[in-house]
Amino acid sequence: MSLSLYLLNLLYLQTTGTALWCYDAQFSCEEACRDPDHWSGQFPSCGGLRQSPINIVTAKAHSNSALPPFNFIGHNDQINISLDNTGHSAQFSLPHSVRLSGGALPGIYRAENFHFHWGREGNPGSEHTIDGERLPMEMHIVHIKEPYGSLAEAEHDMAGIALLAFLFEESADDHPHLDTVIEALGRVQNNGSSSVLVNFRLTDIVPAAAELHSYYRYVGSMTTPGCEQAVSWTVFQRTLPVSSRQLSAIATKCRFWTGKAMMDNFRPTQPLDGRVVYKSSSGCGLLQPNLTLVCSFYILLHI
Ligand SMILES: *[C@@H]1O[C@H](CO)[C@@H](O)[C@H](O)[C@H]1NC(C)=O
Ligand SMILES: *[C@@H]1O[C@H](CO)[C@@H](O)[C@H](O)[C@H]1NC(C)=O
Ligand SMILES: *[C@@H]1O[C@H](CO)[C@@H](O)[C@H](O)[C@H]1NC(C)=O
Ligand SMILES: [Zn+2]
Repeated sequence: MSLSLYLLNLLYLQTTGTALWCYDAQFSCEEACRDPDHWSGQFPSCGGLRQSPINIVTAKAHSNSALPPFNFIGHNDQINISLDNTGHSAQFSLPHSVRLSGGALPGIYRAENFHFHWGREGNPGSEHTIDGERLPMEMHIVHIKEPYGSLAEAEHDMAGIALLAFLFEESADDHPHLDTVIEALGRVQNNGSSSVLVNFRLTDIVPAAAELHSYYRYVGSMTTPGCEQAVSWTVFQRTLPVSSRQLSAIATKCRFWTGKAMMDNFRPTQPLDGRVVYKSSSGCGLLQPNLTLVCSFYILLHI
């Protein structure tokens, strides 16, 4: 944001008090709103010491052999899911039958929704960055610990929410199953509109748990207001493919609540503030003796 826009926004926020929150990309002279630097004025947690996203410095991640793979439940079921333009993003609601356990999380977590963060034509839009690099897109699957019934209940538990993050890398070929998702986004152009995605399977997009043994883990927050600091983050090392055609299509489907094209819907990275990022080591499921064969094979290939 330029200095004059910044000053204008500051003035606006001081005179109005409660502006609606927005991303940096949304702010303009006509449409002043509460940009990420000012979220904490209305949502105090956003100024906390365990905020997300972060830049992951891979060389500083601590190897931890107590980070086993996940068990995904219901990922292979064919489901009909509703999606909603919330004015800030497009959210795909998941049924409670989709759950997970394992991954060193303390219990069973049920899925709530998934959504994406993206950039704009030629500009990457992931929320987490890896060694300073922003990737084209990031998918989040939000899970709530059982037996909590809502995000509001779960946010009082430091591990009440489990967020899985998948980073996308640009590929020459289209992602084979992303076009149905992109088409669905085109049906929820404006804030408040909703639609249904029929016969969807999470496995169309998310790899099997056995292929996701390498990941980063840290404690953080939701990346949108109220920035609740109750999230156990998992950022998978394995990236998912997306073509440049698909990336441009995604960035032209929806509009923010301001009416502007929904692009660059990511929060800037936040200070680590002394937190440690852990990295699952060697990819072995040490707590699953059953995977011994897979593990030794993996080690042989990676020495
Ligand atoms: C999903 O919707 C389609 C079309 O309305 C319907 O035929 C199908 O039975 C539904 N599937 C589930 C699992 O509800
Ligand atoms: C977005 O839509 C929702 C639901 O229709 C509504 O409650 C909300 O006020 C809208 N937000 C804005 C900023 O228009
Ligand atoms: C792994 O364990 C599960 C249940 O504990 C069992 O059903 C499966 O057959 C085992 N797989 C192998 C390769 O031993
Ligand atoms: Zn998100």
